[in-house]
Amino acid sequence: MTKQTNMENIYQDAKRWIREAGKDIIASFKTSYSIDTKSNPNDLVTDIDKQTEKFFIEKINNHYPNHRIMGEEGFGDQVEDTSGIIWFLDPIDGTMNFVHQQTNFAISIGIYEDGIGKVALIYDVTKDELYHCIKGEGLFINDEKQAALNPVELSETLLAINATWVTENHRIDPRTFSPLLKKIRGTRSYGSAAIEMAYVAAGRLDGYVSLRLAPWDFAAGKILIEEVGGICTTVDNKPIDILKKNTIFVGNESFHTHVQKNYIQPAIDQNFYLKKPSS
Ligand code: IPD
Ligand code: CA
Ligand code: CA
Repeated sequence: MTKQTNMENIYQDAKRWIREAGKDIIASFKTSYSIDTKSNPNDLVTDIDKQTEKFFIEKINNHYPNHRIMGEEGFGDQVEDTSGIIWFLDPIDGTMNFVHQQTNFAISIGIYEDGIGKVALIYDVTKDELYHCIKGEGLFINDEKQAALNPVELSETLLAINATWVTENHRIDPRTFSPLLKKIRGTRSYGSAAIEMAYVAAGRLDGYVSLRLAPWDFAAGKILIEEVGGICTTVDNKPIDILKKNTIFVGNESFHTHVQKNYIQPAIDQNFYLKKPSS
């Protein structure tokens, strides 16, 4: 093993860097920053998203020149295959929350080697909660090791879902998930896919669904959830392609299995599930 592939070193460096970047983001609250839109008026990006991505790219390039980086703001590499070590980086997940609320956003880093998730970090900056793991050694929130997920009763579950997916929309028929909402204890929507996936891993939520996420949104969360025995698939129960935009359904294994069998599969069988594939 060389320095370039020593995951324990990579893990320790990433933990240090993510906390350093978090401090810089908090400091930015006192300064003014510019806000732009990207693909649509609700797709926001600030100088801080860009600065944070550049901070990690400089660190990674200096310490691990052989690694590749797929970052949301596009300062990393053009990644088209999974060979070697790839950092999937979302410098601020939940930019709309960052701009409107200055809370409920996270830095998300998933590190994969030849397509296999090895290290994950999701840092809820304002709560100072770092969800992290190196594959096989368990999930931690800061220094506290977390238990594996236990089966849950459907009537006692919480699902994170955006109201968009159970009202008229152009991606999924609202009849897929709306009957489920009557059977579970409640729904939540935090506006940060990374935080929602970290919460599933921590057992604070039992599931999370989204119809269009990018690799930097889900790469870290997938590793964290699988580390505690949770399941991550596309909404129609297929393996997630780590390099592409995907529909995402993640959860506690018992919840995921029940929802697939009793809600999603019947919707697919009756042909009213997906209106438009995610791409
Ligand atoms: C967004 C957030 C949001 C999810 C969107 C993502 P961003 O990421 O995770 O919760 O619903 O699909 O794009 O743009 O704030 O990094
Ligand atoms: Ca994101
Ligand atoms: Ca982002």
